[in-house]
Amino acid sequence: MSPRHSLWGGRFSASPAEVLRRFNDSWSFDRALIAEDVAGSIAWAEELGRCGVLSATEARKIVKGLRDVLAAWEAGEGRDSDAEDVHSYVEGELGKRIGPLAGKLHTGRSRNDQVATDLRLWLRSAFDALHAALLDLAAALATRASEEAATPMPGYTHSKRAEPVTFGHWCLAYVEMLLRDADRVRAARKRANECPLGSGALSGTPLAIDRERLARSLGFERATASSLDGVSDRDAAVEYLFVAALHLSHLSRMAEDLIFFTSDEAGFAELPDALATGSSRMPQKKNPDLLELARGHAGRAVGELTGLLAVLKGLPLAYDKDLQLDKEPLFRVRGVLDAALPAMTALVAGLKLRRERMRNAATDDRLLATELADALARRGVPFRQAHEIAGRRFAAAEASGQGLLERTPSDGVTEADLASVDLGRALARRGAVGGTAPKRVAQAARRAAKRIAAAQKAAAGRSVR
Ligand code: ARG
Repeated sequence: MSPRHSLWGGRFSASPAEVLRRFNDSWSFDRALIAEDVAGSIAWAEELGRCGVLSATEARKIVKGLRDVLAAWEAGEGRDSDAEDVHSYVEGELGKRIGPLAGKLHTGRSRNDQVATDLRLWLRSAFDALHAALLDLAAALATRASEEAATPMPGYTHSKRAEPVTFGHWCLAYVEMLLRDADRVRAARKRANECPLGSGALSGTPLAIDRERLARSLGFERATASSLDGVSDRDAAVEYLFVAALHLSHLSRMAEDLIFFTSDEAGFAELPDALATGSSRMPQKKNPDLLELARGHAGRAVGELTGLLAVLKGLPLAYDKDLQLDKEPLFRVRGVLDAALPAMTALVAGLKLRRERMRNAATDDRLLATELADALARRGVPFRQAHEIAGRRFAAAEASGQGLLERTPSDGVTEADLASVDLGRALARRGAVGGTAPKRVAQAARRAAKRIAAAQKAAAGRSVR
């Protein structure tokens, strides 16, 4: 290992103590920003060249050196470095390649605007990756919704059998959540897409650079408007964690439903073998570990979000080292999303439905009691009274072990009322927008597929760097 390249030794008479370095260094994790750090540095060098701080030859040499540093890293070099952080690593490696000229790269720049820029570049691609992956899951759900638009199953409130719905309708509820997530991702990405580079340490840069041109060269929409805010703002990081935590909580709810649907008790669906896990002790087990992990990770993501908010809430302007702690939660959460989303997508696509069991469960008397009250209401009985009559009949049927719909008229219920109630009609009647009628679900599934395709297309048309 060569001696460590330091960016700030001049005013010190002793080198950093081992105990300081162990606590202070961020290289062990901020190396994940190396591509962004190099991209930001290349843009900075080019801008220094354009405004005459560097000669054209100097700028070219620095840019080439930076590209070589990244290529060497990508080829596996540098893993044993003891750099303080990614910025000192890159500058140190640049120095090894181009000599003292490397020392000109940091003219007019600070690690404060540098790291803020790296982070925004990283967040932009993290937002894009999340957007793409969650739309893949939404597309898988929309496909199943259209295939299963007419597959009945019990719908629940308070975990009690409530009214019948179709499996397609269940799928589309999650599609709505995911489309809102996709929207939030895009809005947050748009807000994040401003360039802090050129803010200097806190007060701005003394160089005559064109910050808007610099911002555009990195694919940003504009330069940040305040240098003090530019170096200390981590809203985009918080928004990423918020969007991720909310999205994971949607996945967690879906996981919870699917754990129940695939339980031995409900038995409405079975996990594909390749996406289930076994027990080391109980030979019969087929476990939904994947779904349980999605549920668990949602909880941890909420913690990451509140953790970062707590780090930020009392920070005085401008840069404080506390801000170094913004990175690991982001990296962890992205790691979770990268693994969880493709797994959930495969599971949704591969879930095997037990349609017979779903249908039988959906014809349970309990699920048709509302339907009986509605039948009375249709012939003019005030709904409140109809509810009372149907409730009494349900209680009597339960006590006697008879079915709610057995064709024996009772107090206030005619044979015609009973004849008009069945599962197919109960579903078909709910045909208003947003309802579970198979025709409506089929149409909603087609619309959802179009909305998803439009969101995918809009994302593909955007510059990704
Ligand atoms: N590793 C630091 C971070 O992630 C880089 C910025 C350091 N700036 C400073 N003034 N110490 O925030």
